[in-house]
Amino acid sequence: MDSPRPARILLGVTGGIAAYKSPDLVRRLRERGAEVQVVMTRGAANFITPLTLQAVSGRPVRDTLWDGSAEAAMDHIELARWADAVLVAPATADFLARLAHGHADDLLSTLCLATAAPLAVAPAMNRLMWGNAATRANVALLESRGVAIFGPGTGEQACGETGEGRMLEPAELAELLLARLPRERVLAGLKVVITAGPTRELIDPVRFISNRSSGKMGYAVACAARDAGAEVVLVSGPVALPAPAGVQRVCVESAEQMYEAVHAALPGADIYIGTAAVADYRPVAVAPQKIKKTAENLRVELVRAPDILGSVAALRQGRPFVVGFAAETENLEEHARRKLLGKRLDMIAANRVGDGLAFDRDDNSLLVLWNGGREDLGAGGKPELARRLVALIGAVRCSVRQAPADTAAGES
Ligand code: C5P
Repeated sequence: MDSPRPARILLGVTGGIAAYKSPDLVRRLRERGAEVQVVMTRGAANFITPLTLQAVSGRPVRDTLWDGSAEAAMDHIELARWADAVLVAPATADFLARLAHGHADDLLSTLCLATAAPLAVAPAMNRLMWGNAATRANVALLESRGVAIFGPGTGEQACGETGEGRMLEPAELAELLLARLPRERVLAGLKVVITAGPTRELIDPVRFISNRSSGKMGYAVACAARDAGAEVVLVSGPVALPAPAGVQRVCVESAEQMYEAVHAALPGADIYIGTAAVADYRPVAVAPQKIKKTAENLRVELVRAPDILGSVAALRQGRPFVVGFAAETENLEEHARRKLLGKRLDMIAANRVGDGLAFDRDDNSLLVLWNGGREDLGAGGKPELARRLVALIGAVRCSVRQAPADTAAGES
């Protein structure tokens, strides 16, 4: 199946102290699947070397209008056409002024004039420079022409002062920029229910059994489904992540609560994606008080927690397209295929865990299986993998007939 070509971002770096964050910004954009071409101003080179930005972007950095060899390869007009979006981060007060007044006396300002791609700037400067009437007027002019102004944030500044003028953090800038790019809305008009995070099964009021899960993959899938045009209900176990904008989040603790919340959200759902690391067992009873450590050995009797994924796949009426996740430490494909068939799923996304892989990390790798199909989505940042997975779900859901759910869900 063809994957869409990566987004092409032209990143302009100008001469402010926040340029030290530019390599991280390049990384954040690339882990979200973008290709990044860095263009530096002369001032930027006082804060960060082109070699560093070349190393993280994987492309030679461009910094002058007068480089004959670079112009022979891709001249400044081609470069301006190549970009799907231009982000200038950090954008100094001087650069904003030059941009507002249409200067074209270096490569970056020329590209900004010559591109038809959306343009965003992330201002970074001392709070008084940001508040100065000249800067305010320049920013208002740029905004009125459709330039997106990302930030700045408020906080401690490199000059020792505190106030407005800090560049936004790289991860936030990457999200803001990529969210503005037109995407294929493969799930437009569909309702998607997604579970994420771990569950907690209480032993007593202060102790619980849980699974290792940060929720990052499930939250990334929720954002990708939202960006693909879906109405998203995210049923989340306890995680340290903020609710994604534009997504309805339902917070739960235990597997039973997650089961109830999922089935309450399912009416009208077209797709169910179970990324949660649901506990397989829960204590038979929750001790009403904290258990004292008097005995040498303690037995906690466990019973099976509800199999949420299996129950959705077994629905006879209103059954959505059902996608499960499988975290495996060995024989990834074999175990995942057994789960796909055993639980009568429509699709399963398998990731290898253990040995420092997947858990609590920002990247992952996914192998996706469905009846009659297989696609290795490779490795990458979780947001980018989530986007690839959502594109695949949209395509496969359209092309395969759902298996009839007329036999009981098997066990894996
Ligand atoms: O069998 P295993 O736990 O590896 O299956 C993982 C898949 O099943 C995930 O999609 C997970 O969300 C789902 N699951 C569930 N209810 C359970 C256990 C797992 O929905 N009790």
